[in-house]
Amino acid sequence: MNDMSEQTIALVTGANKGIGYEIAAGLGALGWSVGVGARSEEQREAAVVRLRAAGADAFGVPLDVTDDASVAAAARLVEERAGRLDVLVNNAGITGGMPQEPTRVDPATARAAVETNVIGVIRVTNAMLPLLRRSASPRIVNMSSSVGSLTRQSDKDDPLKAGPISGAYAPSKTFLNAVTVQYAKELRDTNILINLGCPGYCATDLNGHRGVRTPEQGAAIAIRLATLPDDGPTGGFFEDDGVVPW
Ligand SMILES: NC(=O)c1ccc[n+]([C@@H]2O[C@H](COP(=O)([O-])OP(=O)(O)OC[C@H]3O[C@@H](n4cnc5c(N)ncnc54)[C@H](OP(=O)(O)O)[C@@H]3O)[C@@H](O)[C@H]2O)c1
Repeated sequence: MNDMSEQTIALVTGANKGIGYEIAAGLGALGWSVGVGARSEEQREAAVVRLRAAGADAFGVPLDVTDDASVAAAARLVEERAGRLDVLVNNAGITGGMPQEPTRVDPATARAAVETNVIGVIRVTNAMLPLLRRSASPRIVNMSSSVGSLTRQSDKDDPLKAGPISGAYAPSKTFLNAVTVQYAKELRDTNILINLGCPGYCATDLNGHRGVRTPEQGAAIAIRLATLPDDGPTGGFFEDDGVVPW
């Protein structure tokens, strides 16, 4: 254990590909030690090799956010390696499968989206909190989406501007937003800053690569929220252009 290390220690969930990989790359480029949280050993190790080849101090963290034992083991791994955690990026997410109009959605689809996108974040955050509390400037970044904005979803002029009709994925991000506000409320007297980021519509496996931004562009907001100064915001919802309305 090396809890005296000056090097910032981060963990990114779902970092084997897409936006999560680019978040890990961006944090690695800052000279941070970055845990690549991923459930597939093959994909995790491939990501670690790529990140190391780019100069990042990356290490693999076996992690399925829906599995208690996996998450507990991930916390033990980070503790044994670094003794603490400075930054947690809860990036792992799923849509749950399509179609998902509310009148047709399979309850299993809605349950899966909530299990990963909300309960998974709670499970990982609470497992990592003891390690985050040992940091001088802990940060938690929850990757949400502007599709979780009720203000944008209920825009009377253009409700489809905030994405397709969704009875599972979009509401799961609204739920995540609500949970994050409650974390910020409970943690308001600590030095932990917890915020939500929206990456914009990025071309990844999540949307069949229909997004118009690159995963690297999507990672930028997470990197900004991961590197907030001590007097930075908490309990907020941000995209590149500023605050996202609830
Ligand atoms: N792409 C967009 O336009 C967009 C827009 C708004 C918000 N977001 C959010 O950004 C985040 C990243 O999305 P992305 O577009 O990069 O999607 P992606 O390419 O599909 O990557 C999703 C990542 O989450 C991981 N994951 C899913 N379930 C997991 C579980 N149970 N345990 C551990 N990891 C799990 C995936 O691992 P596997 O490879 O093992 O499946 C993968 O690494 C998500 O939270 C998403 O909701 C994306």
